[in-house]
Amino acid sequence: MNIPEILCEKVLAALEALEVTLPDPSRIQVTKAADLRFGDFQSNVAMMLAKPAGKNPRDFAMELMEKISADDLCEISIAGPGFLNFTLKPETWAALARSQWSAEDLAVSQVEKIETIVVDFSAPNVAKPMHIGHIRSTIIGECLARVATKVGHKVIKDNHIGDWGTQFGMVTWAWKKGVDGKQLEEEPLQELLRLYRMASDAAKEDEAIKEECRAELVKLQKGDLENIEIWTRCVDLSRKGLENIYERLDVRFDHWLGESDYNEDLAPLVKKLTGDGHARESDGAMCIFSSETVKAKNDPFKVNRDGEWQDFPMMVRKKDGAFNYATTDIATVEFRVNEWQADQAWYVVDVRQSGHFSQLIEVSSRLGYDGIKLVHVAFGTILGKDGSPLKTRAGDLPQLEDVLNDAVKAAQIIVDEKSHLDTVEEKEALAELIGVSSIKFTELSHHRMSDYVFDLEKMVALEGDTAPYLLYSYVRSRSIFRKLDGEVDLNAKNLVLTEKAEIHLVRMLTRYSGQIHQVLEDYRPNLLATYLLELARAFHSFFEACPVLKSEGQIRESRLILCDLTSRVLKDGLGLLAIPVPERM
Ligand code: ARG
Repeated sequence: MNIPEILCEKVLAALEALEVTLPDPSRIQVTKAADLRFGDFQSNVAMMLAKPAGKNPRDFAMELMEKISADDLCEISIAGPGFLNFTLKPETWAALARSQWSAEDLAVSQVEKIETIVVDFSAPNVAKPMHIGHIRSTIIGECLARVATKVGHKVIKDNHIGDWGTQFGMVTWAWKKGVDGKQLEEEPLQELLRLYRMASDAAKEDEAIKEECRAELVKLQKGDLENIEIWTRCVDLSRKGLENIYERLDVRFDHWLGESDYNEDLAPLVKKLTGDGHARESDGAMCIFSSETVKAKNDPFKVNRDGEWQDFPMMVRKKDGAFNYATTDIATVEFRVNEWQADQAWYVVDVRQSGHFSQLIEVSSRLGYDGIKLVHVAFGTILGKDGSPLKTRAGDLPQLEDVLNDAVKAAQIIVDEKSHLDTVEEKEALAELIGVSSIKFTELSHHRMSDYVFDLEKMVALEGDTAPYLLYSYVRSRSIFRKLDGEVDLNAKNLVLTEKAEIHLVRMLTRYSGQIHQVLEDYRPNLLATYLLELARAFHSFFEACPVLKSEGQIRESRLILCDLTSRVLKDGLGLLAIPVPERM
């Protein structure tokens, strides 16, 4: 049990002793204090219960305070109209820090109910290189998967790549017109991109070419041998290119079940949907319509055009017989339920696809897949300095690889200027680590729904809310142990905390477990990122206010333990953000 839970039990016991009739006990809460000047934790229970009991809230708070037996843990006071404030004693904080330090898992509590969670993330459309937009899905998805694993869930990371859609019709069309074999060997992703652009430009100009591209896709989906061969080569080459980037990002998947893996299931699925009356024909296509049971504005199968609500069906088979993105996604839900017994699936995908996911969630429930919780973990757009979506000078979306390289270059400048490392190789490795981590941290420190401005210089700066600041904090927390040259044998049974800065550091350290769990409440890695920044700030204040090596006895040992614990929490927390730490900088 954590401290707020323990205090809550004590409040409940006191209420019982006072024979107060409780509403719902879960409404009795002790929370983190809003203002630390008044205490560490607070409760509004007296204000909530005074009125029904016909009492004055402050008087009632007083009565309650006297009945709560928590003298060993904290001081209690009353503030404002009747808030109960709890200020933990230094010995309580010391004991908490000591037990967190001795726990191998840093006292991160585990979920009571372990669930199987599929995290569907990254999922680029292959045959096109990953662009800047994929960074958000890849990084947020990896982080959420790590956090869910940390608290004990069974996590399956699935890269549902787009390897079957319209872009293949285009690439195949252009491939047949003239693939450059040499380029394909040397720069496969660039060559595929060239083919894709060639077809997409031509199709924009000429309706007939657009038709030809579509026909190539239909041929592929029907199993045409030549098209399958071209497709297999495209997918293999793309996959190699992607793997290089994932390696650099330290992102791994358990599966790469792309759209094509569900191809066989699509025809029977549409047949079943039609047979069961879930889908019907419309203009030659097969579609799923509104159930007409909810208000139009809450209905994902309706759209408002010129002030009028119209049908907005989910298409599961096109007029020409090709299946849709939606069809595959329904088949994927079936697979994840039947084969993996998944309890949840998190789709980390751009907010612009929210219409699709609302429809998917409803269709899954109509099909009886109620046991699985489907969540669209949506995110916004990365902006350029002009406030519109980030583009290259040529007007394209920047490629992810170029973005990473630019970040590493920016980091290299700082490293060359400030690093204490000796060799060129070490400095290059550090620049790579800082560059890539900076992109990740910037992503994870923003609320996923907010659009943020991409500013390389700010991201790699040592000052500010940045990755380098956190990495430096970690290195600083280890520096003292390097000075001691391994000669420490920490085994204090009790810590002694005398300074405010120490208490504040411990307060931050002990929040670690709670923060991790909070990330999952609304799929918000930024809560963990901000927490780590706050922890680092608390550490620097402590380090400046409290001499460590120059102090003596129990105090010295306590402070060494705080340094050690801080470095472990920073390393572990950054690890959840998929950011590795350097030992020196
Ligand atoms: N390939 C899609 C895109 O790049 C994302 C796929 C997301 N996952 C899914 N199951 N729909 O837009």
